[in-house]
Amino acid sequence: MMDSKKLQHGQWSSSFAFIMAATGSAVGLGNIWKFPYIAGENGGGAFVIVYLLCVGLIGIPIMMAEIMMGRRGKQNPVDALKALAGEAGADKSWHYLGWTGVVAGFLILSYYSVIAGWASAYAVKAFIGSFSGAGSVEIKELFDNFIASPVQLIFWHTLFMLATMLIVARGINEGMEKALRFLMPGLFIILILLVAYAMTTASYEQGIAFLFTPDFSKLTGNSILTAMGQAFFTLSLGMGAIMVYGSYLPSEVSIAKTAFLIAGADTVVALLAGVAIFPIVFANGLEPASGPSLIFQTLPIAFGAMSGGWLFGVLFFVMLVFAALSSSISLIEPAVAWLVENRRISRESACIWAGLAAWLLGFASIFSFNVWSELKIFDRTIFHLLDYLTANLMLPVGGFFIAVFAGWVMKRQHSEQELNLAVKQSYSIWIFLVCYVAPGAVFLVFLHVVGVL
Ligand code: TRP
Repeated sequence: MMDSKKLQHGQWSSSFAFIMAATGSAVGLGNIWKFPYIAGENGGGAFVIVYLLCVGLIGIPIMMAEIMMGRRGKQNPVDALKALAGEAGADKSWHYLGWTGVVAGFLILSYYSVIAGWASAYAVKAFIGSFSGAGSVEIKELFDNFIASPVQLIFWHTLFMLATMLIVARGINEGMEKALRFLMPGLFIILILLVAYAMTTASYEQGIAFLFTPDFSKLTGNSILTAMGQAFFTLSLGMGAIMVYGSYLPSEVSIAKTAFLIAGADTVVALLAGVAIFPIVFANGLEPASGPSLIFQTLPIAFGAMSGGWLFGVLFFVMLVFAALSSSISLIEPAVAWLVENRRISRESACIWAGLAAWLLGFASIFSFNVWSELKIFDRTIFHLLDYLTANLMLPVGGFFIAVFAGWVMKRQHSEQELNLAVKQSYSIWIFLVCYVAPGAVFLVFLHVVGVL
């Protein structure tokens, strides 16, 4: 669907291809690895509600804005913004917004690849039977020993980054498209199976209550910010990834429908992951707030205990790696598209340079789990700092300006024409959301975090 010639600057072969790619970008480690662990760290229910509100009121309108701007701008985010600003008679410096996106993509990819490396290693561990019959203590030991070894983490991080670079260099070929076509539904089915397993544990209700019973006294400014950041992160918003994908979208496709579809699928996967994981957490006396290790310390227990667990374990981690791959390619794509379209270098070289830089930076995250684990900047390890900086700050700030651009800078007549909504009133709702609600919410959350509100 996205072969390399078409990319300079082409179109998706169909709206289905776009939906697959954009859903592939959205559904990834953010849903299965990150959502459960940050929900766990931030007290569950109330956090989940704020997250859902952010997806609906900020995420979906901004996703529509990004797709719309990409399709109208028809270039990498930097040049698309330049063109759109020109069309609207606005200042050209809007293209810096595209730049912050390219940088945010890099930074995220650097640690995303490290965690995707963990998932790859776990596919192999599942395959060689490391989980069978293992209890929570053994599973924890397995994980602790694994992340204590920089060499192993570097190995898997390198492998994952190479795979990302290779796919982006070749274009998402037939093979990748076909693979995703059954791997994504497969991942979904295994999640349902895990939920079924979670139901058999004695702590199913406790897990559900944790995830869905709101206790608003547990909400701090920072957890609201984290929930909002997660809405951006999980939907791949705020840095131009969806904008770049939108730029390859044919003009007859309904932007609103696709945005709802993508956000809906993404949310369902995240919630299923939470429902599968928390009962296992409580049934084994684990801590919901165990951080990034959460899925790696819980799901293997389920695979080790359930019948057919060997097969499901292997399939689960393999599918997780593919879900991560279809996300990582969208993290690097804005940078690659910019390099190809501006520096006149080949797609292959662009992938090598962009990938190499993110790969090197990834070492900092790797070491922050072992040799540099004591090194804290602003009270956070490098991995946590990168995650906070990108997901909680850069993406919402990027999203804020994207909403402002779509709502206030672009001519109404242009955005209305490009969105081409079937029901006329929905345009007014969308305009209201991107002009006031989305930027206003981001602004208020920031004020709250710095203590002004
Ligand atoms: N959404 C992906 C996930 O949930 C991660 C991701 C891919 C992303 N592309 C992005 C996050 C762009 C922010 C911006 O795993």
